[in-house]
Amino acid sequence: MSDSILQIRGLGKAFGGDWVLEGIDLDIRRGEFLTLLGPSGCGKTTLLRLIAGLETVSAGSLHLQGRDLTPIPAERRPVNTVFQSYALFPHLTVFENVAFGPRLQGVKGAELRRRVADALETVKLGELAARRPGQLSGGQQQRVAIARALVNQPLMLLLDEPLSALDYKLRKQMQLELKQLQRRLGITFVFVTHDQEEALSMSDRVAVMNAGRIEQLDTPRRVYEDPASLFVARFVGEANLLPARVLEQRPDGLSLELEGKPFEAARPQRFEPGGRVHLLLRPEDLDVWSPEELRRQPEYQARALAATVEEVIYKGAEVDLLVRLESGVQVAATAFFDEEDPTLEYQRGERVFVTWPAGWEVLLPFEDAS
Ligand SMILES: Nc1ncnc2c1ncn2[C@@H]1O[C@H](COP(=O)(O)OP(=O)(O)OP(=O)(O)O)[C@@H](O)[C@H]1O
Ligand SMILES: [Mg+2]
Repeated sequence: MSDSILQIRGLGKAFGGDWVLEGIDLDIRRGEFLTLLGPSGCGKTTLLRLIAGLETVSAGSLHLQGRDLTPIPAERRPVNTVFQSYALFPHLTVFENVAFGPRLQGVKGAELRRRVADALETVKLGELAARRPGQLSGGQQQRVAIARALVNQPLMLLLDEPLSALDYKLRKQMQLELKQLQRRLGITFVFVTHDQEEALSMSDRVAVMNAGRIEQLDTPRRVYEDPASLFVARFVGEANLLPARVLEQRPDGLSLELEGKPFEAARPQRFEPGGRVHLLLRPEDLDVWSPEELRRQPEYQARALAATVEEVIYKGAEVDLLVRLESGVQVAATAFFDEEDPTLEYQRGERVFVTWPAGWEVLLPFEDAS
């Protein structure tokens, strides 16, 4: 748990007078796959560049294994970066691209050949050492870039959107390869993406960033299921937000008014009576029932919200529905086909009821969600 390799405290970066990164506190753990996730311009690349030493720090500190990193120049930090553009030398072979860094450090002869061969083997490119980048596919070029970073045997590998130039299928394949590589080598990976699915599927932990700050640092599962803010909730997946009013705060829960009906929320969060909250529900949390089906679900009847089906989108293994509640709020619901209920027939305009398992709602402070 406390085996942190890099301690970041109060880190900030200003360009001119503009702070683009502020108050970053982050402990990166040895051997973890940590992802920085956030929209364009939120400061992900800047944070990586500060760790790599490619930018100077404006505030705060960075300590790698207890040692202050600030006075150490980029080329002497035990950290390597894989950039989005790969930045391979087009006129050099794959071997020479990978050998470039170690050569600069004076490694040569049999030692150099062994290290380059190892790095190329790690990314399964041993056979292609004599080719030039122009003779490789996008995925192979990406693997050369990774080999070039690994050949220096870094403590940490920083990857700035390394997969964004690849098409969808290759990207999926490289996600799996990268994850397996990281597990096999046990090197700490700090990975940047603005693709939430990529972040959730690859990472041990995700730092969700917004406007130069970290809004939540957590496991993928907690970021998705228990987002700390409306921003995080909406950034990491599709979010239904149902406005509700707080009637009463009790030690073990809240009484709310939701869609004109009383609703009991089990979460012990504190909200002011009379104030407003948002209930967050993911599309897959919701069940959509016909009136006849609901009659067979007594435990849900009191809590069911009446709605009208507006859109039915067939997706093969699932059906996505857009339904409108009586208050006018539109919600998305995903229904999955299974053996017991293979029908899933819905018609546009059909009257239905929406429910979800007790306690699955997440309560968030009310914000203008537009
Ligand atoms: N050298 C620079 N000079 C001035 N402003 C900069 C510089 N580098 C970055 N910025 C600004 O800092 C902010 C954060 O940029 P950064 O590149 O870290 O974002 P990002 O999260 O990596 O975005 P993207 O997903 O688009 O790559 C942006 O507003 C950007 O314009
Ligand atoms: Mg960037």
